[in-house]
Amino acid sequence: MPSIVFVSPKGGAGKTTSALVLATQIAQGADVTVIDADPNHPIKTWAAAGNAPSRMTVVSDVTEETIADRIVEAAARTPFVVVDLEGTAAAIVAYAIAEADFVIVPTQGSQLDAEQASNAFRLIRAHERGIQKHKPDYRLPYAVLFTRTSVAISSRDTKHIRASFDSAGIPYLKTELHERAAYKAMFSFRQPLESLPASEVSNIPKAIENAKEFLAEVIERIRCTKPSNNEKAA
Ligand SMILES: Nc1ncnc2c1ncn2[C@@H]1O[C@H](COP(=O)(O)OP(=O)(O)O)[C@@H](O)[C@H]1O
Ligand SMILES: [Mg+2]
Repeated sequence: MPSIVFVSPKGGAGKTTSALVLATQIAQGADVTVIDADPNHPIKTWAAAGNAPSRMTVVSDVTEETIADRIVEAAARTPFVVVDLEGTAAAIVAYAIAEADFVIVPTQGSQLDAEQASNAFRLIRAHERGIQKHKPDYRLPYAVLFTRTSVAISSRDTKHIRASFDSAGIPYLKTELHERAAYKAMFSFRQPLESLPASEVSNIPKAIENAKEFLAEVIERIRCTKPSNNEKAA
């Protein structure tokens, strides 16, 4: 506990990058299991270089049939579980959502991306409806994470999307994961942010600061969730 699941039906939305940024930050203070459920295993490959934090474990032998059990097993072993999924609408996503304590829906700040994210909201609602038959007040906590946004002021597009999310009651994190070379470089150098070579990657401290804000807000959101709302089907 808690299991944090990254969901977005759109490839390239920033799921894997945001999941790795979050998991490596968590690993500075707590044990975390990353469930790499993408068949291309980007996080397993990243960790195979041998530079993963000692408090981070990667599990990648997951299928549609086993993902629910893998999440439950991981949550019993480590205080944090982070799940990275492939960008599909496959059943594996619904199984992972069913075991989630918090869902993050990464989306790039364009109208088209925001519309794609609505597929993720539909899956969350479908899961909630199933449990609400027994627990009418049940809500699965989730939030949109704006990714790859400009470090400069919010674009008009993002402001418009925020306003439409506000009116639709869709929660989003105040912290955005900005477009930064350091987040890309984590994968090319196969290193956590803190170990990237400052001579080759610009603005690493800013990327670390942004990552810490992201983790802090996720933890705050999870803490603020009412325990009665956070129970899964009994
Ligand atoms: N915050 C970011 N800053 C810079 N590049 C990013 C950021 N987030 C994602 N990317 C890049 O965008 C591409 C898609 O990101 P990825 O995390 O693989 O998305 P997904 O897992 O949703 O398919 C990758 O090339 C990745 O390096
Ligand atoms: Mg991915």
